[in-house]
Amino acid sequence: MRLRLENLVPAPGQHAVFCGINGCGKTTLAEVLLRFFSSVIIFDAKSEIHWKGYQRFKSLRSLVSAHPMRAIYAPTWNELQDPGEHEKFYQYAFRRTKTVVYTDEVTTVCDSSREIPPHYKRCLVQGRSKKVMCFSSTQRPVEVPNFLFSESKHFFCFKLNLEPDRKKVEQMTSIDREKIMALPERYFYYARADGFQSSALTLDLKKEKV
Ligand SMILES: Nc1ncnc2c1ncn2[C@@H]1O[C@H](COP(=O)(O)OP(=O)(O)O)[C@@H](O)[C@H]1O
Ligand SMILES: [Mg+2]
Repeated sequence: MRLRLENLVPAPGQHAVFCGINGCGKTTLAEVLLRFFSSVIIFDAKSEIHWKGYQRFKSLRSLVSAHPMRAIYAPTWNELQDPGEHEKFYQYAFRRTKTVVYTDEVTTVCDSSREIPPHYKRCLVQGRSKKVMCFSSTQRPVEVPNFLFSESKHFFCFKLNLEPDRKKVEQMTSIDREKIMALPERYFYYARADGFQSSALTLDLKKEKV
């Protein structure tokens, strides 16, 4: 069966994880998939996302008061260092309902030493009833709480260079770590929590298809 891009789009209330080394194409793939949704807010920790059709904000306060359909929150250094501000962002996401919240990159808000913000967790657990969807991307799956994987249904896995990262992804998604190691540039595996796995796919940006 030939997969189409539409087949990879999470249904309302489902969560997705994107993993892979820097520059492999996570953010680009997320952007294309997010076109299927009308209400999207993005936590842009690296302040590098500039997409057409999105309003950009440097403070949470200005984002909340403008309340646009599509927004990129690129926090200032001070806000980025403050876990209280992260929590407020996910509280806002949870309250918005019927929204996709895309976190790029997850380890800036939680890692092996820092708990996942309570409302990020809440978005993951109660996402279906609130119609809040979490898209989360990371270069370091091993640093990300298992919880994020176990609550997610869709996995987009690009190349990973470190064995602990490949092992974690294999454990959480069943994608073979040897296959992950051998992925060519810009190729990814798509897997679902129900066991479905694609062959290696690549996004054709010109035609917007896989
Ligand atoms: N499928 C693709 N086809 C062509 N160029 C791509 C593709 N995916 C990503 N790129 C380009 O590769 C670079 C890195 O992609 P990006 O999505 O930012 O990677 P990541 O978020 O994983 O670090 C960008 O310049 C992007 O335009
Ligand atoms: Mg990126």
